[in-house]
Amino acid sequence: MFKNISLIITLCASLLTAHAATADYQVVPLPQEISMSKGKPFVLSASTPIVYTGSDAQMQKNANFLSDYVEQLTKIRLNVSSQKVKKTTPIVLALNPKIAGNEAYVMTVTDKQLTIAGKTPAGVFYGIQTLRKSLPVLDAAENIELPAAVIKDAPKFAYRGMMLDCGRHFFPISFVKKYIDMLALHNMNVFHWHLTEDQGWRIEIKKYPKLTEIGSKRSGTIIGHNSAVDDSIPYGGYYTQEQAREIVKYAAERNITVIPEIDMPGHMLSALASYPELGCTGGPYEVGHKWGVYEDVLCLGNEKVYKFLEDIIDELIDIFPSKYIHIGGDESPRVRWEKCPKCQALAKAQGLTTDHLQAYFTNRIEKYINAKGRRIIGWDEILEGPINQSATIMSWRGVQPGTKAANLGHDVIMSPNSNAYFDYYQTKKTGGEPLNIGGYLPVSKVYEYDPTPESMPAEAQKHIVGVQANLWTEYVACPTLAEYQVMPRMAAISEVQWLPSSKKNFDAFKTRVTKLAKIYDRLGYVYAKHLWTEK
Ligand code: ACM
Ligand code: ZN
Repeated sequence: MFKNISLIITLCASLLTAHAATADYQVVPLPQEISMSKGKPFVLSASTPIVYTGSDAQMQKNANFLSDYVEQLTKIRLNVSSQKVKKTTPIVLALNPKIAGNEAYVMTVTDKQLTIAGKTPAGVFYGIQTLRKSLPVLDAAENIELPAAVIKDAPKFAYRGMMLDCGRHFFPISFVKKYIDMLALHNMNVFHWHLTEDQGWRIEIKKYPKLTEIGSKRSGTIIGHNSAVDDSIPYGGYYTQEQAREIVKYAAERNITVIPEIDMPGHMLSALASYPELGCTGGPYEVGHKWGVYEDVLCLGNEKVYKFLEDIIDELIDIFPSKYIHIGGDESPRVRWEKCPKCQALAKAQGLTTDHLQAYFTNRIEKYINAKGRRIIGWDEILEGPINQSATIMSWRGVQPGTKAANLGHDVIMSPNSNAYFDYYQTKKTGGEPLNIGGYLPVSKVYEYDPTPESMPAEAQKHIVGVQANLWTEYVACPTLAEYQVMPRMAAISEVQWLPSSKKNFDAFKTRVTKLAKIYDRLGYVYAKHLWTEK
C-alpha cells in the first residue's frame, strides 16, 4: 500500500513537472556559449517587471520590445520600468562597457534576477531575441521556469543581411515592415532594399518625377517563364521618400540598417523609359514586361547620365544614413556601348576597351559616393574591370568571385546563388509548388554553406565581412509567397551568419528550427514545410 502511494506521488510529481512551462535556450541562431548553472530557475510570471537601466532611449525601446514579445508568445504582459522595485525578481536590461563586441551580450539567469547585458543597446537587443525564442509558446498565461544559466554570445559576421527585390514586384510598406520584423527574429542587421529594376522604379526622386510617374508602371507582365503571353494588366507602385524614411526608422529601432540599391548601369529600363535621352539609342523605351537581361542600359559616354545619377545619390543619402550605398552593377551587356559614338568616344579618350567602360563608370560613381562619406557595394560583375580596392563586392555568381575579390583585398559580402538564393525551389517535387525561377535550394544546402572555409587564406577570410540571402521576385508576386520562399531557409542562413562553422550541426539545428516554427505559427508567418516532410 505504502509503495503504491509513493508511486502515485512520484507519478503526480512527474506529471506536474512535465506540465510546468519551461524555457529552452537551444534557439536559432544558437548562442555561442550556454553554461547551465546550479541553483533554482528564474520564474517568469505576470508580476515579473522588466527594468531597463541607462538613459539611452533605445534601452527603453528594447524593454518595450521584450514586453511585446513575451505577450505574443505566452499571453503574459510584463510591466516595463526604469526603476527596480524591492521584493521583485526582475528581468534587468543593462549596458556593460566591459563586454567585448558591439553586438555581444551576456544573459545571466538566477532565481533572483535575469540580466541581459550588452556593451551597446544592439547587444541587449540580441539577448532579448534569444530570451524571446527560448520561451514556450502558450495558449494561456502560466508561470515559466527559466533554468539557471549564463549565456555568452556574439555574431560571427558584422554584416548579416537579406535582400528584397521590390522592382519586379512591389511590396507594400506594411510587408516591408513585416520583413524587417522577420530579420530581427533571425538576428540580422541589414535590410538590402532593391529599389529599381527594368520592370519598375520604386523610389520617389524629387528632381526626376518621371521616374515614378512613368518608370514605376508597366502596362503588363509576361506570363510564366517569358512565354509569348502577356497579361496586359497594368502594374505599378513606388515608395515616397517619407515612406522610405519611415522604413529606415522602423528598421533602426530593430538594429537593422537599410542599404538602398539603385542598380546601374544595367537593369535601368524603367529609368530609360522615363528619360530616353540617357540611353545609347535614345529610345523609345518601355518599362519591362519580361524577365531577364535587357540590352538597353545607361549610355556611359553621356555626361548627363553622371549628373542624373549624382542627383539621385544626393537624394538617396539624405534618406538612408547607411555606410553603404549599393550601386548594383550586375548583368550589364555591352552591345549598345559597342555601337554608340558617345560610348566609343569615351573609351578612346580614356584608353579603355568597351568592356572596361563599366569599371570607369564604377570608379567615377564610387568617387562621388566616397566624397559624401559613404562606401559602395556592387554585385560581383563590377570586378570584371580595373576597379578600386575600396569597393565592397557582393558575390552572387557562386563563391568564386567573392574568393577572388577577398584575395585582391576587397571587402566581400557572400551571397552565392549556390546557397543563398531564396527564389529557388525548396524541393525537387516542383509540381505542387508555385512557379519559381528554377534551381533547387533545400534548407540543408543553405545550412551547409561555409563562407570562410579552411581552404581560404586567413588574410582573405578577414575580408569576408558578411553573408546575405536574396529574394528576387520575378515569380514572387505577393507577400504570402515571399514569406513562403524565405522561411525556414532564413533560419538556416541566420546560423551561417551567426555561428562559427565548428559549432554548426544540421541535426541539432533541425530540432531548434522545429521550435522556432512554433513562433512562426504564433506570429502567423507562412513558411515552407519540406524540411519536415521530405528526406
Ligand atoms: C543578380 O542575381 N543578378 C545579382
Ligand atoms: Zn552610349
